[in-house]
Amino acid sequence: MTDAAAEPLALSLTAAGPLSGTVTVPGDKSISHRALMFGALAVGETRIEGLLEGEDVLATAAALRAMGADVTRAGAGSWRVHGVGVGGLLQPRTALDMGNSGTSTRLLMGLVAAHPITATFIGDPSLSKRPMGRVVEPLSRMGASFAAAPGNRLPLTLTGACPAVPIRYELPVASAQVKSAVLLAGLNTPGRTSVVERVPTRDHSERMLRGFGATVEVEESAEGRVITITGEAELRPQTITVPGDPSSAAFPLVAALIVPGSRVTIANVGLNPTRDGLVRVLRDMGADILLADERIVGGEPVADLMVTAGPLRGIEVPPEVAPSMIDEYPALFIAATFAEGKTVMRGLEELRVKESDRIAVMAAGLAACGVGVEELPDGLIVHGRGGEAVPGGATVASHLDHRIAMSFAVLGLRAAAPVVVDDARPIATSFPDFLPLMRRLGARV
Ligand code: S3P
Repeated sequence: MTDAAAEPLALSLTAAGPLSGTVTVPGDKSISHRALMFGALAVGETRIEGLLEGEDVLATAAALRAMGADVTRAGAGSWRVHGVGVGGLLQPRTALDMGNSGTSTRLLMGLVAAHPITATFIGDPSLSKRPMGRVVEPLSRMGASFAAAPGNRLPLTLTGACPAVPIRYELPVASAQVKSAVLLAGLNTPGRTSVVERVPTRDHSERMLRGFGATVEVEESAEGRVITITGEAELRPQTITVPGDPSSAAFPLVAALIVPGSRVTIANVGLNPTRDGLVRVLRDMGADILLADERIVGGEPVADLMVTAGPLRGIEVPPEVAPSMIDEYPALFIAATFAEGKTVMRGLEELRVKESDRIAVMAAGLAACGVGVEELPDGLIVHGRGGEAVPGGATVASHLDHRIAMSFAVLGLRAAAPVVVDDARPIATSFPDFLPLMRRLGARV
């Protein structure tokens, strides 16, 4: 999907002075995928406002259309879905192209697993390296069958089971995608399907499925959080307003903290407690971030973030916060670069299986820009430079990873010599307006 422009697009951001202004980040990616998927399973019209129109979410929309749902764009961010009902997905005629999107792939695999259809999932070279065994395993137990590339990778063909078998599944990794895949398969499975998670991961599926009328029980037990869905549900269409994505907000947020004199407001940022780890950690590092107009949008807590640049101090980030900010570590590594003293971040094994190996790729890029880093098997130590700019003067590879590209674009704002990102095209997967937004704040592109 990132080949919209055939040639790599090199990118470099610089700042001539403080960043300032008020910006709004695009809709939450996790919620946008789920809004389309649940709408596609409801009978009647679901209306979505503020949908993220990034390539990842568009891949989900296209796949749902290919399986019979009517998904249309009514205006900017405004979408309508006429669903087929739980159990009503149709056999797609061609392979489903998931582009760069792990969330589309794993959640849709959950849906297909409990339908009497066969679907083939394909993706770009980044997605084709990512592990799918983590969903193949529980979905096989529910009765689905698979033929995949070696190592359970894409291309992968899945034949669903109907009826599927309800299971109780203990998550071996803290993954909202795996949890959601099992719950989505459970939607069309007779009986009760449970997932047990030792550490809480983002809970948008649970919240939204309830909103659509499914019975989802959550109980805290000695083993962790047990989430149970009652199958053969009927979903009722909803009107959904998607809050701004905290994972996208991370980039202008960190930019505002590290460019001296900056004052930036990022409006309408989702602050679900399973997603707000970055704000908590940055505040522990001394960041000046105020929350204004705290409110509920689409069933999710939301606020405007008022960010003022200032000194940061290095800390040991508690590993247990990782699931609540897993996508924000690349941005945190950039903030840590400008802290006084070292920042130690561990418990991040999952970062190695994202759109790229985010520990290795960030460590290499930071080192190339003159930052002292120590790569650990499960994390990174960043030796902060206090208020000092980084030398920069390097070209960094984005490895088809939007968050790597945006992180190094932000680093360039506080570098003595330009930091060039070799290919910025993947930014379109999650944050198509990143460059205009950064320009509005005063960055030079
Ligand atoms: C997501 C879950 C996380 C996150 C991804 C979106 C989701 O992945 O990194 O960007 O929407 O459920 P994992 O489940 O692999 O941790």
